Amino acid sequence: MSLKLAVGGKGGVGKTTITSLIARTIAAINTETKVIAIDADPVANLAAGLGIDETKPITPVSELSDLIAERTGAQPGTMGGFFTLNPKVDDIPDRFSIEKDGVKLLVMGTVQQGGSGCICPESTILKALMNHLVLARNEVIVMDMEAGVEHLGRATSGSVDALIVVVNPGKRSRVAAEKIRKLGSDIGIKNIIVLGNRVKSEEDKALIQDSMPGYEILGFLPEMDEIVASDREGRRPFDDIETIPQELKEITEKLMALDA
Ligand SMILES: Nc1ncnc2c1ncn2[C@@H]1O[C@H](COP(=O)(O)OP(=O)(O)OP(=O)(O)O)[C@@H](O)[C@H]1O
Ligand SMILES: [Mg+2]
Repeated sequence: MSLKLAVGGKGGVGKTTITSLIARTIAAINTETKVIAIDADPVANLAAGLGIDETKPITPVSELSDLIAERTGAQPGTMGGFFTLNPKVDDIPDRFSIEKDGVKLLVMGTVQQGGSGCICPESTILKALMNHLVLARNEVIVMDMEAGVEHLGRATSGSVDALIVVVNPGKRSRVAAEKIRKLGSDIGIKNIIVLGNRVKSEEDKALIQDSMPGYEILGFLPEMDEIVASDREGRRPFDDIETIPQELKEITEKLMALDA
């Protein structure tokens, strides 16, 4: 299976929770398929949702200084000068990810200095790695994209099967969703779909639907006691992934059907 999914949305809407549940569900259904969950949020916390031990810190790719220096030919933290813009990255996903229940977690990290336009060794590695993951590999990739989609360049985003914009039934999160949708289509993601999360009633569903005419709605996830409790207790929700609610199973099946 080859499926590349990005999950975006306003802060706190449930991106990380949904990324981990979708990745775990796909891995549970397709035991033969490799699933890579990518934490592209500067404040990485996808490990918890996947049930990966957080006491051993995971070094983000952006902080693998020796590797970055070796692959680009330039020391991280430097700018300008000459270094290769297409470094070897194909071994990084397997070498620097941590696996749990068929899902490999890769933490991208963040580039400290410079803006998104910065051409420095770290951003070159991250961009090359994203390109490689999305374009060159026949796997399932689920990316937790924080609020925006800035890790995705134009070359990469054309090959993303779907940008899932998570929204809550609240006006502010919908405004952010509109921005993300614009950003997504600006960089060339063709399929942008909405997932309503923390929906408490039919009224909530109608609210999301009515306020987003023209959006394809992937589905709705209810407010779930199990997610609230797991968060409070510091464990992953639905430890036995078979016990996830039907809504989530259906959403995952719809996503798997995007595999062309
Ligand atoms: N369907 C749900 N039912 C109940 N609680 C939920 C649900 N979805 C998410 N939550 C809770 O909402 C909070 C935010 O979720 P999460 O961290 O996944 O959001 P996020 O969009 O990744 O946030 P951030 O923007 O900070 O990265 C968490 O406490 C999570 O447990
Ligand atoms: Mg998050």
